[in-house]
Amino acid sequence: MPELKFLGHACFMLREGKNAVIIDPFLSGNPSATSTVDQIDCQHILVSHGHDDHLGDAVSIARQSGALVIATAEIARSCGEKGVSAHAMHIGGKRNFDFGYVRITQAFHGSGIPGGHACGFIINFYGKTIYHTGDTGIFGDMALLGRLESIDVALLPIGDNFTMGPSDAAEAAGMIKPRLVVPMHYNTWPIIAQDPVPFKQEVESRFGIPVQILSPGGSLTL
Ligand code: NI
Ligand code: MN
Repeated sequence: MPELKFLGHACFMLREGKNAVIIDPFLSGNPSATSTVDQIDCQHILVSHGHDDHLGDAVSIARQSGALVIATAEIARSCGEKGVSAHAMHIGGKRNFDFGYVRITQAFHGSGIPGGHACGFIINFYGKTIYHTGDTGIFGDMALLGRLESIDVALLPIGDNFTMGPSDAAEAAGMIKPRLVVPMHYNTWPIIAQDPVPFKQEVESRFGIPVQILSPGGSLTL
């Protein structure tokens, strides 16, 4: 059974046996990180955008593990120029990998790199479908994405200020209609301090969608 592990902030690892995908590997300098770069072994690295709290240690991890970086074009090119393998995709595109497929979704946020784009990821990993929205504000087409893909787990930012806050993230859950919601991108710093419990209560009572609050280092079986 594939496992989803929360490594703190917006960083998650999907693992099935020896096959692993890390998303937004911000570990160095992340006050909530429970793993260090040298502990990470994976074959694929998904980077939603170029801000430090998402691009993070992607290049170091790619160097030590030989993993392939998957990102939108300019971010993939920038990683490639640092000497690591990178595969460029773009919004709306879908591609098969050995673990399943990745669909790149829009995310309304800065890219952190000139001319680049922020994105989210819908990842089919050994038959389970995970939607990591990246950093984004709410948008109505989340409902469309929820229709196009049958989402098992939605990873939604609730920290506010830079992304959706708890009430918008609850609305997002209602549009995406996943089987489970996991909140992310909160409590890393005081500026994104949030109590996830009222968010959990709102999503569960309004939409009947369970919310699992993971502490950094926590994991669940998909
Ligand atoms: Ni950002
Ligand atoms: Mn961020």
